[in-house]
Amino acid sequence: MDPSLSFDQAPPISVPYRFFLAAPWFGVMAGLLLAWSGADALASRWTPGALALTHLIALGFMLQAMCGALLQFIAVAVGANVWRPRLVASTVQPLLLLATLLLVAGLLYGRPDWLSAAVPFFLLAIGGLVVVVALALWRTPATGMTLWAMRMAIGGLAITVLLGALLAEALAHGFAVPLVELTDVHLAWGLGGWALILLAGVSYQVVPMFQLTRPYPPWFARWFAPLLLFFLVAWSLQLFPGDARWSPMIALPLLLILSAYAGITLWLQHTRRRKIHDATSLYFRVAMLSLLAFAVSAAAIFLLPEIAADPRSAIWLGVLALAGVFVSAITGMMYKIVPFLNWLHLQRLGAPLSAVPNMKKMITAEAMTGQLRLHVLALLLLLAAVWLPGLSRLAGVAFAASCAWLGWNLVAAVRRYLDFRDRIRASGSHR
Ligand code: HEM
Repeated sequence: MDPSLSFDQAPPISVPYRFFLAAPWFGVMAGLLLAWSGADALASRWTPGALALTHLIALGFMLQAMCGALLQFIAVAVGANVWRPRLVASTVQPLLLLATLLLVAGLLYGRPDWLSAAVPFFLLAIGGLVVVVALALWRTPATGMTLWAMRMAIGGLAITVLLGALLAEALAHGFAVPLVELTDVHLAWGLGGWALILLAGVSYQVVPMFQLTRPYPPWFARWFAPLLLFFLVAWSLQLFPGDARWSPMIALPLLLILSAYAGITLWLQHTRRRKIHDATSLYFRVAMLSLLAFAVSAAAIFLLPEIAADPRSAIWLGVLALAGVFVSAITGMMYKIVPFLNWLHLQRLGAPLSAVPNMKKMITAEAMTGQLRLHVLALLLLLAAVWLPGLSRLAGVAFAASCAWLGWNLVAAVRRYLDFRDRIRASGSHR
């Protein structure tokens, strides 16, 4: 393991696990919703179904998993001590769950009162999380680009939620705001300023460590997040009336930066000395290929008005970003983090090392690669369904099934942890 990581500060295992265990079931809900609504949901980005699906993944799957990973990661990777992590997690997680369900139901059924009701819960949950995490990140004596990426990502999350809250209130009360521009700025901060910066910051540490690659080039780690932020701020200027011809000049460099992250990660994987093809590496490859496909498609959409005019283009980008990039990368990460945390916490009980099972026994390789194959099939079906609407229901079922399999793999890993923990305690070999 990386010597710069300090596992003494790891929070209780329940802190990340309560988020990790919830995340896949939102993916199941998203798949079932698509199977139920069929092609209608994917007709354009503004259908109630598309907006609900987006947030089941962005807030239900991604934000749940990323909150869990963040609370775990900042303590061990950058030595940032979160104030009372168990209390924070047990307050934030249920609030987030409730807020997400209210927002999704409000978007799906066009209920202004539910949209409005979701807002205070989001502000409380994410506001609380942002404050404790930001305090921890600013107080830590650590330095380095992972730390800066975490700081920027948490700022990106705050901006996304504030813009989302404004959108929800604007829809609920009919405020006169530029809805399309506001949505475009909100989604850029959510997917870029929060999710991608966090993913990249975590990658700087875990890709070399878990996938045995060389480190990311220092110039890249230094410039990626600040440049992304610079272009996101420039992208946000579209909220002020001006000349729309500038937007490709902001979007194209932004897409180039995303491609650089994907390209470098794939290159690091390709040039590593030991070629391991475990589920995490393969999941990361799927995520980075999806990111490249996203960047190329988005560039084509910006440059060719006839493609941009097709409402399915935006859905194509949404599938690539949400299911292709983030669900894949997050699942791959969880497949490394969960077996490792099981092992770490069992070993901390003080039992002799021989009593602690190998990490490979926590989730079997067959279970992970089987689930990965189903996820890739679901992703391909989702992409095909954008152009062949008859496939929508099948794609929904496949996505729900792959997320359920992931959920089951995680539940089985936690049960294994509890089982071994009880055995170690019963044997009296613990401290
Ligand atoms: C933190 C992660 C979030 C991400 C990644 C995210 C992502 C997105 C995306 C991609 C869209 C555009 C959907 C489309 O074009 O079909 C969108 C729209 C929207 N988001 Fe979010 N979102 C997040 C959080 C929130 C929150 C917390 C709220 C509410 C408090 C919210 C409220 C909305 C609303 C109301 C719209 C629809 C706007 C409209 O129909 O004009 N979002 N979001």
